[in-house]
Amino acid sequence: MGIRRGEVEMEEKTYPIPKGLLEGKGSELFDHVSESLKDFLQEKNISLEKKHPLAFTFSFPCEQSSLSQGLLLSWSKNVRARGVLGKDVVQALREAIDRTGGMNVEVLAMVNDTVATMMTCGFEDRRCEVGLIVGTGTNACYMEELRHIDLVEGDEGRMCVNTDWGAFGDDGALKDVITEYDREVDAASNNAGRQIFEKMVSGMYLGELVRLVVLKMARLGLLFDGHVSDALKTKGKITTAHVAAMEETKNGLKNTRSILMGLNLTPSQNDCVAVQHVGTIVSFRSSNLVAAGLAAILTQIQRNRNLRTFRVSVGVDGTVYKTHPQYPKRLHKVLKRLLPECRVRFILSNSGSSKGAALVTAVAQRLASQKQKVDETLSLFRLSYQQLQVVKARMRAGMEAGLRREGRSELKMLPSFVYNSPDGTEHGKYLAFDLRGTNFKALLVNFKNGLQKAELYNKIYTIPPEMMQGPGAELFDHIAECVSDFLDYMGIKNLGLPAGFIFPFPCKQTAIDAGTLVCWTKGFKTTDCEGHDVVKMLQEAIKRRKEFELDITALVNDTVGTMMSCAYEDPQCEVGLIVGAGSNVCYMEELRNIETEQRDGNEEGGTDGAKTTGVAEVERMCINTEWGGLGEAGSLDDIITPSDVEVDQNSVNPEKQRFEKLTSGMYLGEVVRHTLLDLTRQGLLFRGRVTDALKTPGIIQTKYLSQIERDRLALLQVRSILQRLGLDSTCDDSIIVKEVCGAVSHRAAQLCGAGISAVIDKIRENRGLDHFDVTVGVEGKLYKLHPHFSRVLQETVRVLSPQCRVTFLPSEEGRMKGAALITAGVRQMKM
Ligand code: GLC
Ligand code: GLC
Repeated sequence: MGIRRGEVEMEEKTYPIPKGLLEGKGSELFDHVSESLKDFLQEKNISLEKKHPLAFTFSFPCEQSSLSQGLLLSWSKNVRARGVLGKDVVQALREAIDRTGGMNVEVLAMVNDTVATMMTCGFEDRRCEVGLIVGTGTNACYMEELRHIDLVEGDEGRMCVNTDWGAFGDDGALKDVITEYDREVDAASNNAGRQIFEKMVSGMYLGELVRLVVLKMARLGLLFDGHVSDALKTKGKITTAHVAAMEETKNGLKNTRSILMGLNLTPSQNDCVAVQHVGTIVSFRSSNLVAAGLAAILTQIQRNRNLRTFRVSVGVDGTVYKTHPQYPKRLHKVLKRLLPECRVRFILSNSGSSKGAALVTAVAQRLASQKQKVDETLSLFRLSYQQLQVVKARMRAGMEAGLRREGRSELKMLPSFVYNSPDGTEHGKYLAFDLRGTNFKALLVNFKNGLQKAELYNKIYTIPPEMMQGPGAELFDHIAECVSDFLDYMGIKNLGLPAGFIFPFPCKQTAIDAGTLVCWTKGFKTTDCEGHDVVKMLQEAIKRRKEFELDITALVNDTVGTMMSCAYEDPQCEVGLIVGAGSNVCYMEELRNIETEQRDGNEEGGTDGAKTTGVAEVERMCINTEWGGLGEAGSLDDIITPSDVEVDQNSVNPEKQRFEKLTSGMYLGEVVRHTLLDLTRQGLLFRGRVTDALKTPGIIQTKYLSQIERDRLALLQVRSILQRLGLDSTCDDSIIVKEVCGAVSHRAAQLCGAGISAVIDKIRENRGLDHFDVTVGVEGKLYKLHPHFSRVLQETVRVLSPQCRVTFLPSEEGRMKGAALITAGVRQMKM
């Protein structure tokens, strides 16, 4: 079949199936099908080399898990080929096609004949939402709401359901309407006890029912003067075609006579009238039952849509409906009586089952090619094991270069001047301040021999967004004002408590309480700060207020604070990871590997770091890697996608923090948005319409990613999230959006995993260990709130670092406690 702009061209040929094959070996039946197919291609001069998409109408009950797979549940009608039950019939056909050989066809879809009929009629009439067959067998399908279909995930939109209603009554539900003749038909069939409804309705059985009634009447002496012929006693001698002929308006009686005479009977005029009447009763019952079944289906549709009155079309096929002279009229009339509020149009389908199947295939093919294009775009985000190994190796190389202070290394590897883990002897009151993105947090801790029983008080202040871009003095004046307010609030203004200052940006420290900002990250662009000592800047701002003094004892990166608070709980914690708005890691490095620039003009570096601590035996210092910078010199260029380039170019720090832009909450939503833009421009999403909403930077925040990717989240909910963002989406769009989010966040988690793996293997090798148990303290919303991020990250580490056993310890706002612990440590001369 060729389909072009709503027009269909068809060529067809019918191949009979020899009766033996219907009851023989399944593979032989399928061989016959595929040989007929080849014959057809040859006869119609259809290229055997070119690839043809093929649809398979298979008119038996199958459980489908997709359009191109169906397990045969049971045979019906007169077929019972061996070895097919429970098997995938699409696969069986594919194998037969391979056995036949010499053709290039791809079986894309399998449909039931009812479904194909509905599709064919739906091609011309949008309202066609029911398919009906009354032929050799009987069955109906209809459009059901997805939310009612347990076997299929998703709860929006509709799907066509094949009722296979022929089996109605198999559980005894028709007990009270079944007659002795039905029981006899059933007993003599090759599927006794099954397809009870079908046996009362369909063409395969109507003639037989009439024969049994007529036979019984003759035996009772009510017909043919009690004469019974051998032919009348023989199964199958009266067919449905006979029944149809008997009921012809003009010649019905004449036909009846000749049919009976053909059975070696000599009917009187009264006999003929009576037999004709039997035919009418049997076929009338059939159309009544079909009307009842249809009424049930239509009522279901009506309820699903909450309609009082509605219009619907039913596509019909099947010999009984098509050839029996009275059948359609009776069916329509009874249906109208059962459902007066519903206007039903019946559409007769021509070659419906093959045409409809081809239409389904055409749609399937279009969807498949769209899916392929989406997959191509998303494949750029999928990293192989090899690629992750490469990222790990580059991270490691970046760490080494950074430690050696070689040229402009991608990783800054900043010394933190934090040497030891907290030991639980901390006591007294300490302050901690934390400059976050949009807020500033103040904390007062009262240690009572360690953190366990410490009392904590905190307050959060907002940072107006314009301060992220304005002059530095303004930002620090604002911070000083927050500090002042907090000290007032706690009533501790004149106590001169020591404070730890968490400044979650790369700072080049020369001591625990001094450090110049190397560069802003995470969207900050405040002027006059880079290259300045941030501790001094805060102190100067406080001085300008002339109301109190603050003793800033420690300048702390957020990763370091996190590691320290986790180390308090678990001494094996030697790594601190943040995956929130930004992405960064710190870890314990051997002093011998660290070059530091000390304050007081001591620039010798090396283990001198230990001297200022007052603790002789320290061997390690915590290093803030600033791994977000990986890729700044091009080392990630081979995995960076066009969307990543867009995100980078549109950021306030282009070319900087490339790894961070692939892995942190501040950027993932934007990577998703640019990918959605790309797919939309390709016409694969949002009907190809690039809306203003989609063009709005920042519209997809990372928290939405976390929501959208929740496992059991129904598409309807994805759609409502998108709708709230102003992105009107169909059900298919929602699926694609979810896939994009998944690809982007999965990659982020894998990359962080590769990074962690580089870090822990370095620690392991530093210590010459074959096996290393280590704990990673983690903070950040992406890690904590995203449904899959932590799992994927951990799996990646497991695969890439088989010699390490890693425990991930999520920290609850630990960074500030960690900063307070560090401050206490410095005060108690342990750092
Ligand atoms: C039988 C089959 C069903 C098919 C119908 C009409 O009832 O079980 O799948 O649709 O016949 O061919
Ligand atoms: C950015 C900062 C870094 C910080 C991280 C997490 O990468 O440069 O210092 O640790 O964000 O907040």
